[in-house]
Amino acid sequence: MALGSPSGGASPPGSSPALVAEGLCLTWANGSQALNHCDLRLPGSGLWMLVGGNGSGKSTLLRLLAGLLEPSSGRVRLTLKPALVFQNPDHQLLLPSCGTDLQLGLAQDLAPEQRQGRLAAALAQVGLGGFEGRPIHTLSGGQKQRLAIAGALAGDASLLLLDEPTALLDPESQGEVLQLIDRLCHRPDRPLTALWITHRLEELDHCDAAAEMERGLIGPWQQGPALRRTIENRLPPLPAGRAGG
Ligand SMILES: Nc1ncnc2c1ncn2[C@@H]1O[C@H](COP(=O)(O)OP(=O)(O)O)[C@@H](O)[C@H]1O
Ligand SMILES: [Mg+2]
Repeated sequence: MALGSPSGGASPPGSSPALVAEGLCLTWANGSQALNHCDLRLPGSGLWMLVGGNGSGKSTLLRLLAGLLEPSSGRVRLTLKPALVFQNPDHQLLLPSCGTDLQLGLAQDLAPEQRQGRLAAALAQVGLGGFEGRPIHTLSGGQKQRLAIAGALAGDASLLLLDEPTALLDPESQGEVLQLIDRLCHRPDRPLTALWITHRLEELDHCDAAAEMERGLIGPWQQGPALRRTIENRLPPLPAGRAGG
């Protein structure tokens, strides 16, 4: 992936970019500004990551892109159906079993056998094949997060907006969720577009490109490992050991 391509107009000829946000501003009722003429462009499928400090506007941006919030000014154009995946899957899994929960996101006009097929396919794609009847409270955190992703797939979303999806997971589940999204974004048939927010710098090594968000603005797109090094070099050194102190 060429540097800068997510914002640099590298879409294939004749196709519309997956996502364009222009001049997004969001001012809260108390007057504080979460987004300040923020621009974002994703050309198409791939795993794109955003990193930024607390309060830099990342979650607000995803909610605007998903249509859950209206910008004070600016606009969002999507050519793909979006789905949000939250940090805590318990905030989006509502019904007691995996199958019933996924039913919620399905299009209303599907015949019963189509519904079953859609559910089974979505579960299989996230490595939860045969889990239709499993009670959600018996799932691990990583399995719950993969079920939330299955919900997006069952609902035919092709733009995943993931807000620190691994923040609450153990390292093994973290790796599984990251690999799953990476695979879905690079599969030959209908690859997904994912905008992944992270605070784990090591995750930047696995994206197609990454950008830093600061004070409601997104910086230039870079290769993930390069951005990771830039941020790590900026961090204060670890406290010196007491030996010899
Ligand atoms: N509902 C709200 N009302 C007022 N301010 C908010 C609200 N939600 C978030 N903010 C503020 O907006 C800014 C951006 O928040 P957020 O998008 O959650 O940042 P991030 O996800 O990068 O940590 C922060 O200063 C936060 O305190
Ligand atoms: Mg946030």
